[in-house]
Amino acid sequence: MHRILFDTDSAVFNDDAAALAMLLGRPDRVEILGVTVVAGNHTVPQGAEHMLHLLELAGAPDVPLYLGAHAPLVNTPERAARQEARWGPISFKGAFDEGSEVEPPHGGRFAAVRPRPTDAVSYLVDTVARHPGEITLVAVGPLTNVALALRRDPGIAGRLRSLVFMGGNARVPGNVTPAAEFNFWFDPEAAAEVLGAGIPSVVMFGLDITNHAPLHRPRFERIVAADTPLTRLMRHDMEPAFASGPGATQYVWDCITAAWLIDPSVVTRSERLPIRVERAFGPSYGGSSVDPDGSAVEVMLDLDLERFYALYADLITRPLGPEL
Ligand code: RIB
Ligand code: CA
Repeated sequence: MHRILFDTDSAVFNDDAAALAMLLGRPDRVEILGVTVVAGNHTVPQGAEHMLHLLELAGAPDVPLYLGAHAPLVNTPERAARQEARWGPISFKGAFDEGSEVEPPHGGRFAAVRPRPTDAVSYLVDTVARHPGEITLVAVGPLTNVALALRRDPGIAGRLRSLVFMGGNARVPGNVTPAAEFNFWFDPEAAAEVLGAGIPSVVMFGLDITNHAPLHRPRFERIVAADTPLTRLMRHDMEPAFASGPGATQYVWDCITAAWLIDPSVVTRSERLPIRVERAFGPSYGGSSVDPDGSAVEVMLDLDLERFYALYADLITRPLGPEL
């Protein structure tokens, strides 16, 4: 049983919201104590609305949600523009490309449940301190909130049961630049600080494993054929990207992290490797690699694809929560 703090950069559905829906679907395996939101895919106010909507849809409006860091430690939209001008395109810049306007989630109405007044970093520090050795911190966005919590109280590193995160790339290329994966690229300084913080158990779900589980259109069609509130949200969010043709694929990165927390046998290969994050401002900014100077991390490398998608489909197609 994992007692989880879920730190997320949110999504309409794929993939942060889908990962949270999966975890909420298995209270026999995981308990979600709270959700903290960080800038990444979306700005914090926009991301929070997507996650509040998901909590409501999944029948879990009592899970508290906290607003976290609005910006990375060092990276900015201006730096990203300079990086692109000098070293080539960055394929996705998430919150850096979003304005301050907050749109209502799917369905056109804001969730009734609102964020808690405490800030996410204070909530993370206090909760870990109150439950020494019990908390699995699941971080599926840039690691800014986690880095700020460790700066505030470095002692929480030793009080975590485990940090399980989606981010980085050990032996494969990046997905937003040739060198870097999005979560690490958005806040490389946070990633490096967190990996080096001395947390006793750190588990990495980087592109090395998530690349092995593309979602192809036929599987997507089979899943959304079951009409539930969650599959309606999935169709709304993901269908446009499948419109390009029968060969279209999408990745469900954070969902693999969620699946492993529910059923560890989903992962078939991992290695303990020293991972280093590139912080020098250059073409490889935010990239990660296996390097003797890096921090020791359990790097997840391969999975049982059919087992993973059976679990994913089961949890996404369950008729959770009330019809909205
Ligand atoms: O690179 C994939 C990661 O970036 C996922 O966590 C996705 O949700 C985005 O945050
Ligand atoms: Ca994410």
